[in-house]
Amino acid sequence: MKLSGLTALITGAGSGLGEAVARHLASQGVRCGLVDLNDEGVNRVATDIDAVAVTADVTAPDAVKSAVKVIEDTLGPIRIVVNCAGIAPGAKLVGRDGAHDLDLFRKTIDINLVGAFNVMRLAAERMVQYDEIDGERGVIINTASIAAWEGQIGQAAYAASKGGVASLTLPLSRELARSAIRVMAIAPGIMETPMIAGMSDKVKEALVEKSLHPKRLGQPEEFASLVAHICENAFLNGSTIRLDGAVRLS
Ligand SMILES: NC(=O)c1ccc[n+]([C@@H]2O[C@H](COP(=O)([O-])OP(=O)(O)OC[C@H]3O[C@@H](n4cnc5c(N)ncnc54)[C@H](O)[C@@H]3O)[C@@H](O)[C@H]2O)c1
Repeated sequence: MKLSGLTALITGAGSGLGEAVARHLASQGVRCGLVDLNDEGVNRVATDIDAVAVTADVTAPDAVKSAVKVIEDTLGPIRIVVNCAGIAPGAKLVGRDGAHDLDLFRKTIDINLVGAFNVMRLAAERMVQYDEIDGERGVIINTASIAAWEGQIGQAAYAASKGGVASLTLPLSRELARSAIRVMAIAPGIMETPMIAGMSDKVKEALVEKSLHPKRLGQPEEFASLVAHICENAFLNGSTIRLDGAVRLS
């Protein structure tokens, strides 16, 4: 799909990777609808790029349904969906304070996996009804993580949520193929966003050391440029692409 003039719904767009995607797609002429729980962040980005901001929790069915409607009514048919909303808490199965907080495990799955699914189901419900453009109706891009396969100690909940995101890519691309909608996922390595701001320099350096080349953290703009490429390249479907400088976490 040629990007210019299309409409995108981007979650987690008030910070980090989602913000970079919104800024990059807007620079390519995409009309952007930004969804985030962070009211200040999403409005700051929307003001900068002349986008539509919706403050909503991706796990809430009614809020997401109304976000889809607002974006579609204001900006036109949603051809691109990019799910970036997420959290990355760390906790051990048995930590210093005892057993893993079960609510924290549920919350992580709820936001990272159920939230992405909620956005997909409500956006796709609309997308399947659009006319095709050049043989396509649209594309959905989810954010997994290399933790889906290489989760570290303390990442059980996060890794499980991202494994779920990676796993639903193929079945949903199979289902939506008949509607000419592609489903892809990106599994980033360690990206320089507010999500990793809490890591000490020592931990960051140790992670960078595991990268083969280039030896540095990934940049949000590199993620955004891959999103744009996936939108434009009609032969990319049903896969999860690692974006990680060949880092392999052990
Ligand atoms: N930064 C990394 O190293 C890295 C690596 C792999 C995967 N990821 C994934 O990339 C995605 C984006 O992460 P980031 O690094 O940009 O983090 P970030 O913290 O900068 O941004 C995440 C955004 O999601 C929003 N959000 C959280 N819960 C929400 C909810 N329930 N409803 C709506 N919005 C919500 C936050 O408000 C925030 O603006 C996440 O899914 C994360 O797991 C990040």
